[in-house]
Amino acid sequence: MTFDRSYPGPDPRPASNLHVAVIMDGNGRWASNRGWPRLVGHRKGAERVRQLVSECPDLGIRYLTLYAFSTENWKRTTEEVMGLMALFARYIKREAGRMNREGVRLRVIGDRRQLDPKLSALFDWVETETAHNDRVHLSLAINYGGRDEIARATRDIARDVAEGRLSPDEICDATMTRYLDTSYMPDPDLVVRTSGETRVSNYLLWQAAYSEYVFTPVLWPDFTPDTMKTILDAFHARERRFGGVMS
Ligand code: IPE
Ligand code: IPE
Ligand code: MG
Repeated sequence: MTFDRSYPGPDPRPASNLHVAVIMDGNGRWASNRGWPRLVGHRKGAERVRQLVSECPDLGIRYLTLYAFSTENWKRTTEEVMGLMALFARYIKREAGRMNREGVRLRVIGDRRQLDPKLSALFDWVETETAHNDRVHLSLAINYGGRDEIARATRDIARDVAEGRLSPDEICDATMTRYLDTSYMPDPDLVVRTSGETRVSNYLLWQAAYSEYVFTPVLWPDFTPDTMKTILDAFHARERRFGGVMS
């Protein structure tokens, strides 16, 4: 496969480091409401992902982190799980060229060891293929769970301590951050969850310590760049205090 590697060039707009994380929920209900199989909702959801990624520069989003499959989602039927895995593979193969044209760097977070080695190899491939892009940093959370991520990071830290590469006294916030899957990104400024559920479902537990949260009733397959724009306008009007006091 060959892809257009031409980088779109520097963006004239002021650089933003805004990080928005999304819990893309409601695909199943969207499909069921129409009497369609759940996978139809997931397919429509993937279209919404493509649209949103393309609009990120206009929305001022530099980092976009999307929850696509949780460590708990294995509880679903084999048909749905396999359908989702196939959808991830298809999305990556179809979108790699566009991502390069649009300056999108894609990385996958989560534990890959439980995934089909072919899918995991595809993740490696697309990460390399888009590694030179810097306009939008897209991260897909697949077989991702915040607790699992923290446990894996702790294992790595313990190993480094046992082998003398790290001293227990050095371990602090920044050390943890460095060992997490998300070490390359700033903490999310905003976490959006669609579909009206008001829970975190094991997403970015460490990273979202000071994030703003927005819960919207919109089902993910109905979520447009305009929906995001409205949410961002409300977010920008909020005062973030980080434990301090505003003058
Ligand atoms: C979110 O939509 C996508 C994934 C979890 C993969 P759901 O599939 O959870 O949709 P609902 O919540 O059942 O409507
Ligand atoms: C969270 O949605 C996971 C993803 C969006 C991938 P779920 O639909 O799995 O979450 P719960 O089960 O409602 O908490
Ligand atoms: Mg759901």
